[in-house]
Amino acid sequence: MNISVIGSGYVGLVTGAVFSDMGNDVICVDIDESRVRMLQGGECPIYEPRLPEMIAHNRREGRLEFTTSTAFAVRRSEIVFICVGTPPKEDGRTDLSYVEAAAQDIAGALNGPKIIVTKSTVPVGTGDFVRKIIEAHRHDGTPFEVVSNPEFLREGQAIRDTLQPDRIVIGTSSEAAAARLSELYRPIERPILITDMHSAEIIKYASNAFLATKISFINSVANLCERAGADVKAVTKGIGADARIGPAFLEAGLGYGGSCFPKDVDSLMYTSREFGTPFEILKSVAAENDSRVPRFAQRIVERLGTGAPAPLAGRRIAILGLAFKPDTDDMREAKSVEICSRLRQAGASLRTYDPVATEKARPLIGEENVEYCRNAYEAAQGADAAVIVTEWREFIQLNLARLRDAMSQPIIFDGRNIYTPAQVAAAGIEYHSIGRPSVGPRET
Ligand code: UDX
Repeated sequence: MNISVIGSGYVGLVTGAVFSDMGNDVICVDIDESRVRMLQGGECPIYEPRLPEMIAHNRREGRLEFTTSTAFAVRRSEIVFICVGTPPKEDGRTDLSYVEAAAQDIAGALNGPKIIVTKSTVPVGTGDFVRKIIEAHRHDGTPFEVVSNPEFLREGQAIRDTLQPDRIVIGTSSEAAAARLSELYRPIERPILITDMHSAEIIKYASNAFLATKISFINSVANLCERAGADVKAVTKGIGADARIGPAFLEAGLGYGGSCFPKDVDSLMYTSREFGTPFEILKSVAAENDSRVPRFAQRIVERLGTGAPAPLAGRRIAILGLAFKPDTDDMREAKSVEICSRLRQAGASLRTYDPVATEKARPLIGEENVEYCRNAYEAAQGADAAVIVTEWREFIQLNLARLRDAMSQPIIFDGRNIYTPAQVAAAGIEYHSIGRPSVGPRET
């Protein structure tokens, strides 16, 4: 099939790469000329495992190209995917200006029947909005269909998620459009759910908000475990064994970040309010998430602090992990930014390390009282504590004895529970984690 993808960010690039890999002819569009030039020159603007290879392969095969011209791409396509950004506005509502602009451009280029598919995460009703814009801007009565086909990919495993989604949601009232999209997805052999457009739009937000709720729920349980002397890992195992609950997305930690959960929770709250049915539960979900870093930073201050106004003055702290999660260089809503800011405000100087996100982190974290190191051991050199912020695999495999020897005080604050307390204590390191008793030299 001939496909175009408007917007070459995470979702657009992965979508374009995977569809071309399935044998379709795909044109990806972006308004950012430098990004398109990069892609045309064979470079991939984002860090995502397997993506650069897949793009390169399909460009070589002549099935994948990049352009800044929406009109060029749309004219050559039967199916047009809208994958532009939908950033949050101040009040939590979703900014649809890029969707609107894409719809206008598509309308201006309609040269025959097309299926316009919204893949960007958009509030319920946006499909109707897109339809109205296209109807208002097309030159004649060229027929078209609008479909909602939300994307559920996770950064860091985007290719796998796109090739093996739990479900493919196709929201449309057009049987012909549903059949055509089902045909497009047939090669990946995954369950396809065909719904009306509004339901498909809500499925996306409800999924993300539910997952965020699971995370805030387990983080609240972790708070209780810390006070009661219980182990949140054991509790998680116990509740996750109930098939109605399931073990996934119950990792207690510093809370959720990234480009989706924080903004999608806010957007669903906003939309629900607009419809007169405030989604009260989500207020607590967001509030719990916002409290994760202050609470964790407070524990560090209590352990290492010497008194106001700058309790961590003279303290050197290693920050391990800056990206919002492993296997990505994405810094959007990364907890590292807030942790670094709080610890520096308390007077600490920081030595940070991330396997891939350092360059993206620099402008957000700044240079004052921060050193950006080349590995975890270098970051730990002379440190009074090491803080695990992102659960990169290479941190799980660290040589704890070597880390201990590099530090001036062997203390780890683990914001992601990547070690077992016994393992860290055995290495002669004091260990504070989430929802589990602290262990190690001071206590033993
Ligand atoms: C998420 C959704 O999973 C995906 O379906 C949607 O398309 C986009 O948003 P992503 O933001 O890439 O994907 O990352 P994800 O792996 O879902 O993690 C989101 C955040 O939750 C991260 O900050 C992660 O650290 C945190 N998290 C996740 C937890 O704190 N605990 C968990 O158990 C799982």
